[in-house]
Amino acid sequence: MQPDSPAARIYAAIDTPDLDRARALTHALAGLVGGVKLGKQFFTAHGPEGIRAILGAPETRDLGLFLDLKFHDIPNTVAGAIRAAAPLAPSWLTVHASGGPAMLRAAADASAETAQAEGKPRTRILAVTVLTSLDDADLAAVGQHTPAGEQVARLGALARDNGVDGLVCSPREIAQLRAGLGSEIALAVPGIRPTWSGAGDQKRITTPHAALAAGADLLVIGRPITRADDPAAAARRIVAELAA
Ligand code: C5P
Repeated sequence: MQPDSPAARIYAAIDTPDLDRARALTHALAGLVGGVKLGKQFFTAHGPEGIRAILGAPETRDLGLFLDLKFHDIPNTVAGAIRAAAPLAPSWLTVHASGGPAMLRAAADASAETAQAEGKPRTRILAVTVLTSLDDADLAAVGQHTPAGEQVARLGALARDNGVDGLVCSPREIAQLRAGLGSEIALAVPGIRPTWSGAGDQKRITTPHAALAAGADLLVIGRPITRADDPAAAARRIVAELAA
């Protein structure tokens, strides 16, 4: 698969604590998408061994790993967690931008140092700005009185300025962040729905094609693929639509 091809930009969100289901999905999607996103649900149930169990097979070895653990802690602990994740060789790993400049810098430095020491490709760090589950009232309730949109821009710039490779953002934030932060920052976008798939609980959705056109680099797609009767066919259909 070409690294910049539309298929390589798709990361399928495998949100399940069921190891067999995760294994079946990764085997079905191998060679069709760039990788899989595994998060707190799968990782808390199965840990690094679970990841090896589903991505260590010869058939699935080429799938990239997007390790979505959204680290948020003191800089030393986040750096240690990133070093501890290195044996899994994640392509992408998430932290919270609200952890602050020192934490973001520690995350970026830890990924660079680990890659150098182990001679492996560097894990790229993505920062989450404002969780899309939070609105202005929720932010005010935790003492944060900047409107969510402004806070996204502020945290995005903070992440970029402290060596972070990219941001997780909603479809509606792509254009603003791309314009404000330039072409270097990677944008990973969930809330992606092909026209033939239901929205589920996602409120701000866009199609795969529109997300790429707006400037997304990675498309995080869960249920349209994983809940399809035939996940491989759904992935192929998305790739075909992107190529059209
Ligand atoms: O199934 P669906 O396509 O909605 O999955 C989207 C994935 O992206 C899920 O893993 C979800 O937790 C994640 N995500 C999101 N919205 C955010 C951040 C992450 O949907 N703002």
